[in-house]
Amino acid sequence: MKLHSLLLPIASLITSISCLQPLDQWGHERIQLQDVSIHFRYSQGGKPPLLLIHGSPQHSRTWTHMGPILAEHFSVIAPDNRGQGDSALSLSDNYTALAAGADHLAMLNFLNISKTYVFSHDKGAGLAASLALEHPERVEKIIFSEYALPGMTGYSTEVTSPDPYQNWQLAFFAVPDVAQFFIQGKERQMLEWYFWHSSYSGTDVISNELLDVYARAISKPGFLRAMFQYFAAAFEDEKYFKAVLASKGKLQMPALAMGGEALFSPPEILRQAWGGVAENLETAVVPKAGHWIADENPTWVANRAIQFFGNSTLPGLDLSSLERLTTMFGILGNTMLTPGINGTA
Ligand SMILES: *[C@@H]1O[C@H](CO)[C@@H](O)[C@H](O)[C@H]1NC(C)=O
Ligand SMILES: *[C@@H]1O[C@H](CO)[C@@H](O)[C@H](O)[C@H]1NC(C)=O
Ligand SMILES: *[C@@H]1O[C@H](CO)[C@@H](O)[C@H](O)[C@H]1NC(C)=O
Repeated sequence: MKLHSLLLPIASLITSISCLQPLDQWGHERIQLQDVSIHFRYSQGGKPPLLLIHGSPQHSRTWTHMGPILAEHFSVIAPDNRGQGDSALSLSDNYTALAAGADHLAMLNFLNISKTYVFSHDKGAGLAASLALEHPERVEKIIFSEYALPGMTGYSTEVTSPDPYQNWQLAFFAVPDVAQFFIQGKERQMLEWYFWHSSYSGTDVISNELLDVYARAISKPGFLRAMFQYFAAAFEDEKYFKAVLASKGKLQMPALAMGGEALFSPPEILRQAWGGVAENLETAVVPKAGHWIADENPTWVANRAIQFFGNSTLPGLDLSSLERLTTMFGILGNTMLTPGINGTA
């Protein structure tokens, strides 16, 4: 084989990789809702919309590695959940899946997105489930990863041993006063332990740079506590999900439940966790990953998501007016609808 026929594909591969736009160069937007202001990042418009909902203790930088790959196929919207990243604290101190999920609905309304793909991780999967259960007409296909809704089969919070994958910290974090008392001032060390604790790849799971980013985010006044409030909300979330599933029934849109091989083992746990929530369910185990699938195996996860969402029938998202808009003057009620969108909150 001639050398140039070998080099050509390599050169085009390198070009296509270097063309990916890093997440920290995406656009920023902030919208003011009644209870909170929400910050989000977005990639270029013109493609079908994909909403990425992160979990805890991360924020939109969760998608540092996956986001640019997904942005080749979708117009990606990556918000910071209330009380996390660069979104504000909730004035009413409400971090339930229902309240935080409604922020994402308000954002879809603001962006005139009538229907979207959704990829969610960790606590974000609770927010995504609430959004999809309340407004199924807004969600085309949905991915839940690394989570089980409170009250569904899934993680035990019992202290059985300090080994990785024993999720005793979920119970500790659910008592915000105590968790804050012991962790404040040691945010970075806690994160270092937390990432390692639920990883496949060990200490290398997360770069020092990203660890600093997450540590800075939760060290702002009130944000460590907000992180714990999501865990404390599990009890209210459990009641809510039981009630809404009993009254509305399971989700009907195509759903994919994913989990890292280190945690969702045996893989049947995924179906146990999500079979009661989504009727039309596929499952996938992420190789070489623990809880942090977007950090540990981003290429595999992004490609699996692209495959699941498939060739889109959703219209491209027009974001051309965003650059010129001022967005902080009027308060968008969580229930207020942007003209052009037909739906109720
Ligand atoms: C949190 O917000 C949800 C949605 O608005 C509401 O149903 C719930 O009662 C609130 N919970 C608390 C404790 O305020
Ligand atoms: C949403 O649609 C309305 C009405 O067509 C328009 O005024 C507004 O600029 C659009 N918003 C965005 C973010 O594109
Ligand atoms: C999408 O369409 C292209 C061209 O028709 C086809 O090659 C590809 O396999 C399709 N992908 C999916 C995920 O359906």
